[in-house]
Amino acid sequence: MTQIIDGKKISQEIKEEVKAKVEALQAKGIVRTLAVIQVGNDPASAVYVNNKKKACAYVGIRSLSYELAEETTQEELLALIGELNQREDVDGILVQLPLPKHIDEDRVLLAISPEKDVDGFHPMNVGNLSIGRPGYVSCTPAGIIELLKRSGIAIEGKECVVLGRSNIVGKPMAMLLLRENGTVTVCHSRTKDVKEITRRADILVVAVGKPMLVDETYVKEGAVVIDVGIHRDAANRLCGDVNFERVAPHCTAITPVPGGVGPMTIAMLMKNCAEGCR
Ligand code: GUN
Repeated sequence: MTQIIDGKKISQEIKEEVKAKVEALQAKGIVRTLAVIQVGNDPASAVYVNNKKKACAYVGIRSLSYELAEETTQEELLALIGELNQREDVDGILVQLPLPKHIDEDRVLLAISPEKDVDGFHPMNVGNLSIGRPGYVSCTPAGIIELLKRSGIAIEGKECVVLGRSNIVGKPMAMLLLRENGTVTVCHSRTKDVKEITRRADILVVAVGKPMLVDETYVKEGAVVIDVGIHRDAANRLCGDVNFERVAPHCTAITPVPGGVGPMTIAMLMKNCAEGCR
């Protein structure tokens, strides 16, 4: 029987743990505050930002909302970040991506104080992850590690293949799997004979952003498959980067879409906000 990894249930467990932690801090008079910045009105970003604010309310984290116009200049955004960096009552700063084209994303991420970078996107936190030092870790890959651990799936000594090399998921995912003593290979758009590599994987993480790309021909019998993609198919149903129907029968465990990796991102953001970057 294939184990369907329940990201909804596991993310709820994490949110309950965070809520208890936040309540314990409140009892000591400590309030955690997250500043959430959105520039422009990309509808998908608006949904994500709203969900993040709702999660804050649920776990007891105070959220400050900055909804800036599309025409906001880079200087104005940097000035706001500078001000939030200085504020002692602000613990975390999150700038929702993507930003409008006239704003340099790298410049903005660099401006966020690494101590308040709850998304784990600042080069200092990325660097700390890669050399095994404490720091904030990108929420989606950190959530995948939690999914694996809480589903009783060992990483140590396993062949781990990450399909995709984005800064937000693929690269930090590879670093985290390595930190857990997996043997890690990263495949990307220029990789030759991708399937030969993915078919070696005990744990295959797919984060390529292509609907239903991965079918059973990519997967070793008995593998664990983690699907980071989220798309709408022709019938307007949610689907992932993995063809679930075709792949699931060959797996020991697999994440569904929706209800797999998706809910973990916000749960881990809440954990980062509550706990800091130990
Ligand atoms: N856009 C897509 N995913 C993310 C995320 O995890 N954090 C932020 N800030 N923006 C995103």
